Amino acid sequence: MAQHTFTVNGESVTVDVADDVRLLWVLRDVLGITGPKYGCGINVCKACTSHINGKAFNPCSVRVADIGPDDEVTTIEGLADTVDADLHPMQEAWIERDVAQCGYCQPGQIMAAVALVNKVRAEGRAITTADLDGIRNICRCGTYHRIREAVVEGAKGM
Ligand code: FES
Ligand code: FES
Repeated sequence: MAQHTFTVNGESVTVDVADDVRLLWVLRDVLGITGPKYGCGINVCKACTSHINGKAFNPCSVRVADIGPDDEVTTIEGLADTVDADLHPMQEAWIERDVAQCGYCQPGQIMAAVALVNKVRAEGRAITTADLDGIRNICRCGTYHRIREAVVEGAKGM
């Protein structure tokens, strides 16, 4: 066991777990933050998509020892706080478009969408069809069409 300190959703946390435990299990099982979902555990399904230092990443594939005290992790639970609102504009768009079916993949989908919009904005451009094609998060319920509409809609509010 070893101590690891980092920031999650604006709060500094310290956990006592072995170095090679994946961050997804630290979030879910140690910290009780269950928005990031477990699908594959091998960085394929993207159900666990969250943000590290504002960029999308998949905590199922990151060892807790690789997260440092200066790293800021944001999960779906902390997304609205990044805009100081009850809901993030992307979450509002998700509701507006009634995107979710079973809902399992949707936290990861929203986190991927927000990271994508922030990335294209930083590049000084608008989101394109190719950008939307680049979202690789798997949805077993097949909500892909509504996801694409919601990303475009949500981007307008960001
Ligand atoms: S559970 Fe993380 S990518 Fe599938
Ligand atoms: S809404 Fe069911 S897996 Fe995406």
